[in-house]
Amino acid sequence: MALRNIRVIGDEVLNKRCKEVTVITPRTKTLIDDMFETMYDAGGVGLAACQVGVLKRIVVIDTTGEDPVVLINPEIVATDGEQEGYEGCLSIPEKSGWVKRPNYVKCRAYDEELKPFEIEGEGLLARAIAHELEHLDGHLYVEHVEGGVEGLVNNSELVEKEEE
Ligand code: NI
Repeated sequence: MALRNIRVIGDEVLNKRCKEVTVITPRTKTLIDDMFETMYDAGGVGLAACQVGVLKRIVVIDTTGEDPVVLINPEIVATDGEQEGYEGCLSIPEKSGWVKRPNYVKCRAYDEELKPFEIEGEGLLARAIAHELEHLDGHLYVEHVEGGVEGLVNNSELVEKEEE
């Protein structure tokens, strides 16, 4: 396993549509292992393949540190409710923005053997799934933030706000 370089906003690979995965090769498995290692190292809860420069529809998520999940060719098939909160992205370091997301998401995807499965999530898991799937279509959460990149706040300012 190896750490991969996380691409940051401004890198055009983040604005491209990722391609469906049709075959799992040893390279795909290495990519997935590296994505987990890179995500944990950076302290994130989700990472899409395009964020390490690979235009494939692969996402890794772990919102608790104990529930790693790989989503290949994922699709959201149901949503419910709404949540609002600050959201960040490893490709937009040290910034956060206020984003509305569904509070519940049901997602259909394929596992590392290309077997279909479904995953449901509420709260942070729903937010992570919604956020990561947007990456696969070349979108970033700042598109939902009023004012775009200008509307983001520094995470250090957020911590100060919480302490008040
Ligand atoms: Ni992100």
